[in-house]
Amino acid sequence: MRIDKFIANLWYGSRKQVGEYIKNEYIAVNDETIYEKDYEIHYWDIISIGEKKIEYKEYIYLLLNKPVWYISSKKSEWWHPSYLELLENCPYGQIIDIVGRLDFDTSGFLLLTNDGSLTHKIISPKKDIFKKYYVVWANNISQKDREKLESGVKIDDTISKPAKVEIIDENKIYLSISEGRFHQIKKMFESIGNKVIELKRVSIWWLTLWNLPLWEWKYLTNEEVKKLFE
Ligand code: URA
Repeated sequence: MRIDKFIANLWYGSRKQVGEYIKNEYIAVNDETIYEKDYEIHYWDIISIGEKKIEYKEYIYLLLNKPVWYISSKKSEWWHPSYLELLENCPYGQIIDIVGRLDFDTSGFLLLTNDGSLTHKIISPKKDIFKKYYVVWANNISQKDREKLESGVKIDDTISKPAKVEIIDENKIYLSISEGRFHQIKKMFESIGNKVIELKRVSIWWLTLWNLPLWEWKYLTNEEVKKLFE
């Protein structure tokens, strides 16, 4: 890829501005100043933008433990900050996208990548990849409600795909679903006459938050990425 395109994509300015950086000897590749804006970079090259060093990777995979209040959109709204504010120390924030958004009042696991084939695999309903949520609800649920969640409830005029329910105590469960419809879990609970009061995504498929603290992010390891494609 051309260096000016790579740097502009990362949001360090327009291609024209990047051209100026290059003219001003502000850009280096593997510690050598470069002078051409169409200089071709290769994976694993280290790009310096002033003092900042960035590895040029083809694909980026990371997970973020999102607190409530942040929105799953790259642009902040006046009353809600974008999740990108939590990735301030990650140089790739602008070139990766969320795989399965969370509502502003839902916390937990956000997977982010620029690898479209992984996104497709995770969100395609045909693949039946389960996403697990910790749910606290307002009213007790009966055995019948549980069975309804497990077999499918009516939301938006269609029936949800079967979910997995693990009871934690009388007002908390883990609910695993293989779809990702808009407000899906809240709507599923509404459909059984209940109300979600706390929602947190704890895992996607076999990937979990482990001990990643709220507000923090980490890159997936090479082993994890490999396993996602097996
Ligand atoms: N279901 C919801 O209702 N909200 C989310 O953020 C995720 C799943």
